[in-house]
Amino acid sequence: MTDERGLGLTSGVLPQGLPGTMKVNARGHLEIGGVDTVKLAKRYKTPLYVFDEALIRQRCREYRTAFEKNYPKFSIAYAGKAFMTMAMVRIVEEEGLYLDVVSGGELYTALKAQFPPERIFFNGNNKSPDEIEMALRSGVGRIIVDSFDELDLIESMAGDLKDEKGNARRVPILLRVTPGVEAHTHHYIQTGREDSKFGFSIGAGSAMAAVMRVLASDRFDLKGIHCHIGSQLFDFEPFAITVKKMLDFRREVYRSTGYILHEVNFGGGLAAKYTEHDNPPSVGEFIQALTSKVVDVCRSTDMPLPHIAVEPGRSIIAEAGTTLYTVGTVKHIPGVRTYIAVDGGMTDNPRYALYQADYRALVANKATVPAEVHYAVAGKCCESGDMLIMDAVLPPVKPGDILAVLTTGAYCYSMASNYNRIPRPAAILVNGGVSEVIVERETYDDLVRKDRIPARLLAKKSVVLSYH
Ligand SMILES: Cc1ncc(COP(=O)(O)O)c(C=O)c1O
Repeated sequence: MTDERGLGLTSGVLPQGLPGTMKVNARGHLEIGGVDTVKLAKRYKTPLYVFDEALIRQRCREYRTAFEKNYPKFSIAYAGKAFMTMAMVRIVEEEGLYLDVVSGGELYTALKAQFPPERIFFNGNNKSPDEIEMALRSGVGRIIVDSFDELDLIESMAGDLKDEKGNARRVPILLRVTPGVEAHTHHYIQTGREDSKFGFSIGAGSAMAAVMRVLASDRFDLKGIHCHIGSQLFDFEPFAITVKKMLDFRREVYRSTGYILHEVNFGGGLAAKYTEHDNPPSVGEFIQALTSKVVDVCRSTDMPLPHIAVEPGRSIIAEAGTTLYTVGTVKHIPGVRTYIAVDGGMTDNPRYALYQADYRALVANKATVPAEVHYAVAGKCCESGDMLIMDAVLPPVKPGDILAVLTTGAYCYSMASNYNRIPRPAAILVNGGVSEVIVERETYDDLVRKDRIPARLLAKKSVVLSYH
């Protein structure tokens, strides 16, 4: 028996439906973007990141539509740290979003993909002088400043910056502040002073000191304030408290200096749906709640509405990504569990190893076969913690089967490594029955490309050890 998209009903996978364009085709195979994933695995090999372009665009539009419906002035900056390649940058650009970058590498990627610099926000708690120079020269829209040292650095480097008329150009900045709300998935705490490497604390007074410091300088154009309270957040409550704290601080700045901080950036954080237990608000619900809280607080405090910015990463890209693997071994330990090992693991998806993130999977070539067997899905790295799913309910699995791990779009490719000298997988974009490579698979040559052997090590005679 199958559901409306052809999925084996006992699979336990997201009973509310598969994400995006994912469905099961007439051959009983998993299909994404109108392309059979079993064919994809054959054509491009595995492991393989598959991205559903229609779903990425849909999520970008959900953010835009929600703001357009609810609020007059806004910017939505996709957080590139979740997943960034030049093709992804082009999609974000075409969808009219802004882009949040956090390193010279992300900025370089964005510029190489011809993303308009004025739509780039540059975040990060320790930007190097080279990175700041890159940001200043390219003319990024906002530098989000994290510390007094960074203010000093930017000020010292902004000296020669000129606009088209030869006048000294002020650097458009936001100050990252810590509002005293720490949110982690299903719980949050409020603290007067935050213990965080990021930003200026409102509670401890450094945020106000930073505002004074900036207003006293002729090098900065202080556009507003920024915060980010956490990621994979389900409840609106910590955001509501954050809105109040940020806007109260904005009013305090106005009262003490007469200066209106025009922009308030609330960062990212909206959760994605990884398993059937995850029930985050929709993008529309989240933005509606955020904007109405902003309106309420501004009304009750008699302050003008700010320009709102958000920086969603995971909620745009997580569900659009699926990773395909080939099963290599099946190992049954009587009375314990059955392991299946796939041809990737923590090198392409470190999220289970890092924080026991939960995933769901399907067998792409057996998508209509009832899923009744419990497996632990392991990677191929030399680490016992190299697991992908501790308890996956799947049809009976054999070596050669194609396992599709869902919702791997965010913080997988971007956190991938070459541990064990495993080449990073290719990434492809699927849409309307067409698949295109957006990142080539790394080769063994890529792995040694940057290695250098000092001549003295080549000149030495080798000592051959023999074992008897
Ligand atoms: C400053 C900032 N903005 C945006 C994000 C994106 O968050 P998410 O992917 O949870 O939406 C992060 C994530 O760490 C962040 O640190």
